[in-house]
Amino acid sequence: MKKLIAVVGIALMAGAAQAGGNVDAGKALTEKYACFSCHGKDFNTPIDPSYPKLAGQHRDYLEHALTAYKRGDGANGRNNAIMTGQVKPLSNQDIKDVAAYLHSLPTSLATHR
Ligand code: HEC
Repeated sequence: MKKLIAVVGIALMAGAAQAGGNVDAGKALTEKYACFSCHGKDFNTPIDPSYPKLAGQHRDYLEHALTAYKRGDGANGRNNAIMTGQVKPLSNQDIKDVAAYLHSLPTSLATHR
């Protein structure tokens, strides 16, 4: 019985690690798709003040935003001439990895004043 509990515990932990996304894989993806070319190399200094800062943003928010661009005009979707094209090659796991990486970066976003 103890052994069974340990196995279930490990399986749950492995699932959680994957659900949270992989920081290194996310970093590689942002380099592959050159996300920094607009959002800034530290993801804190976008090339235009109207472009969002992403460093340290909440992971679930980032996942939600990227998934919404993938949905486009559909329910709960988000349409943007620039970002719709950017998310096209990203799989659901890629989105989780990118969100984990961006969340891990030092932020200049305010959480409270
Ligand atoms: C050509 C410039 C450009 C590139 C390249 C780019 N983005 Fe964006 N990104 C933008 C702009 C502009 C917005 C704001 C769009 C809007 O108003 O919905 C945005 C919005 C976002 C948002 C939503 C932020 C929020 O606060 O809601 C996320 C997340 C994001 N980008 C991630 C990425 C990732 C990941 C990549 C690389 C795969 C990437 N971007 C590549 C310009 C770019």
